[in-house]
Amino acid sequence: MQEACKPIVVVGSVTMDMVTCTPQIPRIGQTIIGTSFSTTPGGKGANQAVAAARLGYPVQFVGMVGDDIYGPQLIQNLADAGVDTSAMETTSGPSGLAPIFLAANGQNAIVVVPGANGKVDSTYVDKHIDVIRNAGMVLCQLELPMATIDHTLNVCAELGVPVMLDPAPAAGLSDSVWKQVAWFTPNETEAAFYLNDGSYPELIAQELLERGLRGVVLKRGAEGAYVAIAGGAAGWVKPFAVDAIDTVAAGDCFNGAFAVALLEGKSPLAAARFACAASAISVTRRGAQASMPTYADLNAFLADRGETM
Ligand code: RIB
Repeated sequence: MQEACKPIVVVGSVTMDMVTCTPQIPRIGQTIIGTSFSTTPGGKGANQAVAAARLGYPVQFVGMVGDDIYGPQLIQNLADAGVDTSAMETTSGPSGLAPIFLAANGQNAIVVVPGANGKVDSTYVDKHIDVIRNAGMVLCQLELPMATIDHTLNVCAELGVPVMLDPAPAAGLSDSVWKQVAWFTPNETEAAFYLNDGSYPELIAQELLERGLRGVVLKRGAEGAYVAIAGGAAGWVKPFAVDAIDTVAAGDCFNGAFAVALLEGKSPLAAARFACAASAISVTRRGAQASMPTYADLNAFLADRGETM
Protein backbone atom coordinates (compact mmCIF):
# COMPACT_ATOMS: atom_id res chain seq x y z
CA MET A 1 0.00 0.00 0.00
CA GLN A 2 2.75 2.41 0.97
CA GLU A 3 4.60 2.19 -2.39
CA ALA A 4 1.65 4.09 -3.86
CA CYS A 5 1.59 6.72 -1.09
CA LYS A 6 2.64 10.26 -1.78
CA PRO A 7 5.73 10.70 0.38
CA ILE A 8 6.19 12.95 3.35
CA VAL A 9 8.74 15.59 2.36
CA VAL A 10 10.72 17.29 5.09
CA VAL A 11 12.25 20.63 4.15
CA GLY A 12 14.38 21.08 7.22
CA SER A 13 17.50 20.93 9.31
CA VAL A 14 19.96 18.14 9.95
CA THR A 15 22.42 18.50 12.78
CA MET A 16 25.04 16.55 14.69
CA ASP A 17 23.99 16.57 18.34
CA MET A 18 26.90 16.82 20.82
CA VAL A 19 25.29 15.39 23.91
CA THR A 20 26.78 15.85 27.36
CA CYS A 21 25.03 13.78 30.03
CA THR A 22 25.15 15.57 33.35
CA PRO A 23 23.60 15.25 36.81
CA GLN A 24 21.80 18.54 36.19
CA ILE A 25 21.83 21.43 33.71
CA PRO A 26 24.62 23.75 34.95
CA ARG A 27 23.68 27.16 36.29
CA ILE A 28 25.27 30.26 34.79
CA GLY A 29 28.90 30.47 35.93
CA GLN A 30 28.86 26.94 37.34
CA THR A 31 31.23 24.10 36.38
CA ILE A 32 30.06 20.54 37.03
CA ILE A 33 31.40 17.08 36.24
CA GLY A 34 29.47 15.30 33.50
CA THR A 35 28.89 11.56 33.16
CA SER A 36 29.31 10.92 29.41
CA PHE A 37 29.58 12.54 25.98
CA SER A 38 28.41 11.34 22.56
CA THR A 39 27.80 12.64 19.06
CA THR A 40 24.51 11.47 17.61
CA PRO A 41 22.50 12.58 14.54
CA GLY A 42 19.75 15.10 15.20
CA GLY A 43 18.21 18.29 13.86
CA LYS A 44 14.47 18.80 14.10
CA GLY A 45 13.89 18.25 10.39
CA ALA A 46 15.97 15.10 10.15
CA ASN A 47 14.50 13.76 13.40
CA GLN A 48 10.97 14.16 12.02
CA ALA A 49 12.02 12.50 8.77
CA VAL A 50 13.46 9.50 10.64
CA ALA A 51 10.39 9.28 12.91
CA ALA A 52 8.14 8.91 9.84
CA ALA A 53 10.50 6.62 7.94
CA ARG A 54 10.95 4.24 10.91
CA LEU A 55 7.17 3.79 10.78
CA GLY A 56 7.61 2.51 7.23
CA TYR A 57 6.27 5.60 5.45
CA PRO A 58 8.05 6.95 2.34
CA VAL A 59 9.96 10.09 3.27
CA GLN A 60 12.20 12.41 1.29
CA PHE A 61 14.53 14.94 2.92
CA VAL A 62 15.34 18.32 1.38
CA GLY A 63 18.26 19.86 3.26
CA MET A 64 22.02 20.39 3.40
CA VAL A 65 25.06 19.18 5.31
CA GLY A 66 28.56 20.66 5.44
CA ASP A 67 31.78 19.26 3.94
CA ASP A 68 33.12 18.34 7.38
CA ILE A 69 33.45 14.88 8.98
CA TYR A 70 29.81 14.96 10.08
CA GLY A 71 28.16 15.57 6.69
CA PRO A 72 28.52 12.01 5.32
CA GLN A 73 27.47 10.50 8.68
CA LEU A 74 24.34 12.65 8.80
CA ILE A 75 23.30 11.67 5.27
CA GLN A 76 24.09 8.00 5.87
CA ASN A 77 22.05 7.91 9.06
CA LEU A 78 19.01 9.28 7.22
CA ALA A 79 19.50 6.77 4.40
CA ASP A 80 19.89 3.91 6.91
CA ALA A 81 16.50 4.86 8.39
CA GLY A 82 14.95 4.59 4.92
CA VAL A 83 14.81 8.31 4.10
CA ASP A 84 15.34 9.27 0.43
CA THR A 85 18.36 11.58 0.55
CA SER A 86 18.73 12.10 -3.22
CA ALA A 87 17.84 15.81 -3.01
CA MET A 88 20.36 16.52 -0.24
CA GLU A 89 23.41 18.64 -0.97
CA THR A 90 26.79 19.12 0.65
CA THR A 91 27.90 22.72 0.99
CA SER A 92 31.26 24.17 2.03
CA GLY A 93 31.74 24.81 5.74
CA PRO A 94 30.49 23.02 8.85
CA SER A 95 27.34 20.93 9.19
CA GLY A 96 24.70 22.01 11.69
CA LEU A 97 25.86 21.29 15.24
CA ALA A 98 23.89 21.18 18.47
CA PRO A 99 25.60 21.16 21.89
CA ILE A 100 23.07 19.55 24.25
CA PHE A 101 23.03 19.17 28.02
CA LEU A 102 21.01 16.10 28.99
CA ALA A 103 20.23 15.99 32.72
CA ALA A 104 19.73 12.82 34.77
CA ASN A 105 15.99 13.56 35.06
CA GLY A 106 15.64 13.48 31.25
CA GLN A 107 15.37 17.25 30.77
CA ASN A 108 17.56 19.01 28.27
CA ALA A 109 18.94 22.36 27.14
CA ILE A 110 20.02 22.80 23.50
CA VAL A 111 21.94 25.38 21.47
CA VAL A 112 21.68 24.96 17.69
CA VAL A 113 24.51 26.32 15.50
CA PRO A 114 22.95 26.27 12.00
CA GLY A 115 26.06 25.70 9.83
CA ALA A 116 24.91 24.24 6.50
CA ASN A 117 21.23 24.56 7.51
CA GLY A 118 21.72 28.33 7.26
CA LYS A 119 22.58 27.92 3.58
CA VAL A 120 19.32 26.23 2.61
CA ASP A 121 17.82 28.98 0.46
CA SER A 122 14.93 29.55 -1.93
CA THR A 123 17.03 28.67 -4.98
CA TYR A 124 17.79 25.24 -3.54
CA VAL A 125 14.13 24.71 -2.61
CA ASP A 126 13.08 25.67 -6.16
CA LYS A 127 15.54 23.14 -7.57
CA HIS A 128 13.50 20.48 -5.78
CA ILE A 129 10.04 21.79 -6.55
CA ASP A 130 9.03 18.50 -8.17
CA VAL A 131 9.77 16.69 -4.93
CA ILE A 132 7.48 19.14 -3.12
CA ARG A 133 4.81 18.88 -5.81
CA ASN A 134 4.62 15.11 -5.28
CA ALA A 135 4.42 15.29 -1.49
CA GLY A 136 1.46 14.03 0.53
CA MET A 137 2.51 16.53 3.17
CA VAL A 138 5.48 18.84 3.72
CA LEU A 139 6.96 19.09 7.22
CA CYS A 140 8.84 22.26 8.21
CA GLN A 141 10.37 23.52 11.44
CA LEU A 142 12.14 26.79 12.20
CA GLU A 143 15.81 25.76 12.03
CA LEU A 144 16.23 27.04 8.44
CA PRO A 145 16.44 30.74 7.48
CA MET A 146 13.01 32.36 7.83
CA ALA A 147 13.09 33.52 4.18
CA THR A 148 13.43 29.85 3.15
CA ILE A 149 10.50 28.83 5.36
CA ASP A 150 8.36 31.62 3.88
CA HIS A 151 9.31 30.60 0.37
CA THR A 152 8.61 26.91 1.02
CA LEU A 153 5.20 27.74 2.47
CA ASN A 154 4.41 29.95 -0.55
CA VAL A 155 5.41 27.14 -2.91
CA CYS A 156 3.29 24.62 -1.00
CA ALA A 157 0.31 26.99 -1.01
CA GLU A 158 0.61 27.45 -4.79
CA LEU A 159 0.89 23.70 -5.33
CA GLY A 160 -1.88 22.84 -2.86
CA VAL A 161 0.40 20.65 -0.73
CA PRO A 162 -0.54 20.60 2.97
CA VAL A 163 2.12 21.78 5.43
CA MET A 164 2.74 20.81 9.04
CA LEU A 165 4.76 23.59 10.66
CA ASP A 166 6.52 22.84 13.93
CA PRO A 167 7.34 26.32 15.29
CA ALA A 168 10.54 25.16 16.93
CA PRO A 169 12.56 26.97 18.02
CA ALA A 170 9.86 29.63 18.31
CA ALA A 171 10.49 32.72 16.18
CA GLY A 172 8.44 35.54 14.68
CA LEU A 173 6.41 34.43 11.67
CA SER A 174 5.21 36.35 8.61
CA ASP A 175 1.49 37.21 8.65
CA SER A 176 0.95 35.02 5.58
CA VAL A 177 2.05 31.88 7.42
CA TRP A 178 -1.14 31.41 9.42
CA LYS A 179 -3.33 30.86 6.37
CA GLN A 180 -0.79 28.59 4.68
CA VAL A 181 -0.41 25.97 7.38
CA ALA A 182 -2.60 22.90 7.76
CA TRP A 183 -1.13 21.82 11.12
CA PHE A 184 0.69 24.03 13.65
CA THR A 185 2.28 22.03 16.48
CA PRO A 186 3.82 24.16 19.26
CA ASN A 187 4.86 22.80 22.63
CA GLU A 188 3.95 24.75 25.74
CA THR A 189 6.90 27.16 25.57
CA GLU A 190 6.41 27.81 21.88
CA ALA A 191 2.67 28.42 22.28
CA ALA A 192 3.45 30.96 25.00
CA PHE A 193 5.87 32.71 22.62
CA TYR A 194 3.10 33.27 20.06
CA LEU A 195 0.36 34.27 22.50
CA ASN A 196 2.19 35.46 25.57
CA ASP A 197 -0.28 33.39 27.58
CA GLY A 198 0.36 29.72 28.27
CA SER A 199 -2.50 29.18 30.69
CA TYR A 200 -5.51 27.54 28.99
CA PRO A 201 -4.75 25.22 26.06
CA GLU A 202 -8.36 25.39 24.82
CA LEU A 203 -8.13 29.19 24.55
CA ILE A 204 -4.64 29.11 23.07
CA ALA A 205 -5.80 26.73 20.35
CA GLN A 206 -8.88 28.84 19.63
CA GLU A 207 -6.83 32.00 19.35
CA LEU A 208 -4.33 30.33 17.02
CA LEU A 209 -7.14 29.01 14.82
CA GLU A 210 -8.59 32.51 14.58
CA ARG A 211 -5.36 33.60 12.86
CA GLY A 212 -6.28 31.34 9.93
CA LEU A 213 -4.66 28.00 10.78
CA ARG A 214 -6.64 24.90 9.79
CA GLY A 215 -5.44 22.69 12.63
CA VAL A 216 -3.53 23.08 15.87
CA VAL A 217 -1.88 20.48 18.07
CA LEU A 218 -0.60 21.74 21.40
CA LYS A 219 2.11 19.29 22.50
CA ARG A 220 1.96 19.24 26.29
CA GLY A 221 4.51 16.55 27.21
CA ALA A 222 3.35 14.60 30.25
CA GLU A 223 -0.16 16.13 29.91
CA GLY A 224 -0.64 14.65 26.43
CA ALA A 225 -1.82 16.83 23.56
CA TYR A 226 -4.71 19.14 22.74
CA VAL A 227 -6.00 18.98 19.16
CA ALA A 228 -8.30 21.57 17.56
CA ILE A 229 -9.52 21.85 13.97
CA ALA A 230 -11.03 25.00 12.47
CA GLY A 231 -14.79 24.49 12.40
CA GLY A 232 -14.36 20.89 13.56
CA ALA A 233 -13.53 18.59 16.43
CA ALA A 234 -11.35 19.50 19.40
CA GLY A 235 -10.20 17.53 22.38
CA TRP A 236 -7.49 16.27 24.67
CA VAL A 237 -5.43 13.21 23.93
CA LYS A 238 -4.26 11.42 27.05
CA PRO A 239 -0.53 10.83 27.57
CA PHE A 240 1.12 7.45 28.16
CA ALA A 241 2.91 7.19 31.50
CA VAL A 242 6.55 6.13 31.03
CA ASP A 243 9.87 6.68 32.81
CA ALA A 244 11.60 9.28 30.64
CA ILE A 245 15.38 9.10 30.38
CA ASP A 246 15.89 11.41 27.36
CA THR A 247 13.31 13.90 26.11
CA VAL A 248 15.45 15.16 23.19
CA ALA A 249 13.41 14.92 19.96
CA ALA A 250 10.21 13.70 21.66
CA GLY A 251 8.34 16.54 19.92
CA ASP A 252 9.96 15.61 16.60
CA CYS A 253 8.88 12.02 17.08
CA PHE A 254 5.34 13.26 17.67
CA ASN A 255 5.32 15.26 14.41
CA GLY A 256 6.70 12.46 12.26
CA ALA A 257 4.24 9.94 13.69
CA PHE A 258 1.32 12.39 13.54
CA ALA A 259 1.97 13.05 9.85
CA VAL A 260 2.14 9.31 9.09
CA ALA A 261 -1.09 8.61 10.95
CA LEU A 262 -2.95 11.47 9.24
CA LEU A 263 -1.76 10.35 5.80
CA GLU A 264 -2.80 6.80 6.62
CA GLY A 265 -6.32 8.12 7.17
CA LYS A 266 -6.60 8.27 10.95
CA SER A 267 -8.76 11.04 12.42
CA PRO A 268 -6.74 13.93 13.89
CA LEU A 269 -7.52 12.81 17.45
CA ALA A 270 -6.59 9.18 16.73
CA ALA A 271 -3.47 10.37 14.90
CA ALA A 272 -2.47 12.45 17.94
CA ARG A 273 -2.97 9.46 20.25
CA PHE A 274 -0.77 7.38 17.93
CA ALA A 275 1.84 10.16 18.00
CA CYS A 276 1.67 10.36 21.82
CA ALA A 277 2.44 6.63 21.96
CA ALA A 278 5.38 7.04 19.58
CA SER A 279 6.87 9.93 21.55
CA ALA A 280 6.30 8.10 24.84
CA ILE A 281 8.48 5.28 23.51
CA SER A 282 11.10 7.76 22.26
CA VAL A 283 11.66 9.30 25.70
CA THR A 284 12.51 5.88 27.14
CA ARG A 285 15.47 5.66 24.73
CA ARG A 286 18.64 7.70 24.34
CA GLY A 287 19.43 9.82 21.28
CA ALA A 288 17.34 11.85 18.87
CA GLN A 289 16.99 9.82 15.66
CA ALA A 290 18.11 6.68 17.50
CA SER A 291 15.04 6.85 19.75
CA MET A 292 12.34 6.71 17.03
CA PRO A 293 10.09 3.61 17.22
CA THR A 294 9.01 1.24 14.46
CA TYR A 295 5.41 0.07 13.94
CA ALA A 296 6.36 -3.21 15.67
CA ASP A 297 7.62 -1.23 18.70
CA LEU A 298 4.36 0.73 18.77
CA ASN A 299 2.15 -2.32 18.48
CA ALA A 300 4.03 -4.03 21.33
CA PHE A 301 3.85 -0.87 23.47
CA LEU A 302 0.09 -0.56 22.90
CA ALA A 303 -0.56 -4.27 23.41
CA ASP A 304 1.21 -4.03 26.78
CA ARG A 305 -1.37 -1.39 27.71
CA GLY A 306 -4.34 -3.27 26.30
CA GLU A 307 -4.77 -0.89 23.35
CA THR A 308 -4.67 -1.21 19.57
CA MET A 309 -4.70 1.43 16.83
O1 RIB B 1 14.26 18.68 18.74
C1 RIB B 1 15.50 18.12 19.12
C2 RIB B 1 16.57 18.61 18.22
O2 RIB B 1 16.73 20.00 18.41
C3 RIB B 1 17.94 18.03 18.50
O3 RIB B 1 18.18 16.82 17.81
C4 RIB B 1 18.87 19.16 18.09
O4 RIB B 1 19.60 18.88 16.94
C5 RIB B 1 17.98 20.37 17.90
O5 RIB B 1 17.80 20.65 16.57
